[in-house]
Amino acid sequence: MKKLLLIVVSLLTFSFTFAAEKKKKIEDFDKIEIGTTFKMYNSNGVELDPSVASATVIKDPNYEYGNVLHVKVGNVKSYVEIEMPDNLTASQASSKYEKLKFLIFRPEGQPDRFQGEFSLWFGSAHSTTTTFANINAPVGKEANLTYNINKVSGYGKTIRFGFSVKNVEFYLDDIYFLYTDYGYDYTDPLQTARYHADLIGKNLGVCVSPNQLSETSREGQTIYRNFNMVVGENAMKFDATEPSRNNFNFNAGDQIVNFAMRHDMEVRGHTLAWHSQTSQWVHNGNYSKEEMLAILKNHIFKVVGHWKGKITEWDVVNEVMAENQGRGVGQGYQLRGKGSGQESVWYDRCGEEFIDSAFVWAHQADPDAILYINDYNIGHWDNHYESGKTHAIYNLAKRLKEDGIPIHGVGMQMHTSVEGLNVASIERTVREFEKIGLKCIITELDMAGKNPSGTMEQATQATKYAGLADIICRYDNAPTMVVWGIADNKSWLENSEQTKPLLFDPTLAAKKSYLKVVDTFEKYATAAGVDSEIEEDMEPASKYVDVYNLMGQKVASQMLREDVETLPAGLYIIGGKKVYIR
Ligand code: G3I
Repeated sequence: MKKLLLIVVSLLTFSFTFAAEKKKKIEDFDKIEIGTTFKMYNSNGVELDPSVASATVIKDPNYEYGNVLHVKVGNVKSYVEIEMPDNLTASQASSKYEKLKFLIFRPEGQPDRFQGEFSLWFGSAHSTTTTFANINAPVGKEANLTYNINKVSGYGKTIRFGFSVKNVEFYLDDIYFLYTDYGYDYTDPLQTARYHADLIGKNLGVCVSPNQLSETSREGQTIYRNFNMVVGENAMKFDATEPSRNNFNFNAGDQIVNFAMRHDMEVRGHTLAWHSQTSQWVHNGNYSKEEMLAILKNHIFKVVGHWKGKITEWDVVNEVMAENQGRGVGQGYQLRGKGSGQESVWYDRCGEEFIDSAFVWAHQADPDAILYINDYNIGHWDNHYESGKTHAIYNLAKRLKEDGIPIHGVGMQMHTSVEGLNVASIERTVREFEKIGLKCIITELDMAGKNPSGTMEQATQATKYAGLADIICRYDNAPTMVVWGIADNKSWLENSEQTKPLLFDPTLAAKKSYLKVVDTFEKYATAAGVDSEIEEDMEPASKYVDVYNLMGQKVASQMLREDVETLPAGLYIIGGKKVYIR
């Protein structure tokens, strides 16, 4: 028992430290031998004689900071050059990191205040110039300075600190990059969005294909460590599951479900009735309306039935709404198919009733499954080109609900752009569905940048991703956000490597967007005080406990409480509370 308490207490300490630890050390000089000198240059890049400007590692005369860099600037503007960690290039460092932080203080005999211009250069490329006024760093008192990093290109591997002040001396120490993928250790479950999302009962999902699910690959690990929900990108669609009539193939879908079960993840089922990726035999069979409905019914019963109890929720119908309709609330809807200029094999042969029936059949096949209608360009409620279609799907969903059809929510695909996404308008949509008792979730999110290099938009993208996560955290009817792919270079979108729509870069390093999502979930998990509940729970009511995984499946019955630490690492529900076992 004591040991378990220790585990939990160390978990708490760690998660709090982590919040402050998103930084990467560039240099603190502590491992550099005293007396080592760093080169200094004038503004033309000419190396300066140490009699004009010098930078030497010394022991902090105040004995507070270990070794520091003693910089002496003579009668010329100069800069000191320091190598970047991990062989990073200018371009890599300036795209991975948001800020640079350092500590500066003044030696004896120097004026307490000084002002001038600070420049930050990566390699030979300029990132930031800030005019600082009156840095107040009296002897014995340090100033912690933080500057935003602007993106630069180039292969140089050094950082240059330039101070436009002349005839000054200062000590420089503790130089860090802030907020980076290096600050995020992907092997530590406690640092992930998944961990915090689990704590507050929200889902961060991702679409996957079976070939991405090897536990020994970085890709597979990225999936189960960072997400708590998966959806088959193609594996559960009609053409994959029923390639010929009444001949079902669940192999690809089973691989996804089994992976999810091994890692306590939930599964979204995607999708049962869609005009696209429906097997050719359905299109070619020249079936009557009755036969088409019988085919759909059989398909839904077999597919939903096969994964009954394992798949939490289904996109029952996908993309049934016609594009380009300027509807208001209460002004009906036009479905995709005949008369809309777009085809739909289901609508064209069955009419609208295939939608109602599909929901009823899915509900009969698994009464516990949560059933969604899913579509694209339906996220923005007002003042947006999507608004008319958003209102149309609202009108349809409301009609279905009022008719007693077992529909539980609307999936907003959200294949969108950094520029086009308006978080407030999405929130309005969530609220409007909340008012009529329907869930409203994000099911296929990607956010492409417009700039071909994609770099300028990444900060805005991160803010918008965080804004969406914030909605997920705040609304009970919006428990889920699913991204449509893991890494920027592997997306259904063309040129995605350039437009960078997702949460991880091609090396599977977490992007700022991911880290902002982590922060958001963490903020709400901390506010909900879930950690302290775990701590309180550690005084056992009984010696034996039942252990469940996050899908509510019993993992162990009446286990000796002190033995729970022998469980494989993961999150469990023990005695009604979530507990992380390392
Ligand atoms: O399965 C064949 C394979 O046998 C063949 O070798 C290969 C050669 O190109 O093609 C494979 O099929 C591709 C399939 O993905 C599986 O990789 C199709 O050509 C390709 O069109 C298909 O694209 C999928 C697309 O839906 C089809 O509409 C994308 O991966 C998938 O991301 C995308 O997902 C949709 C959602 O389901 C619904 N919302 C929109 C979203 C994006 O289009």
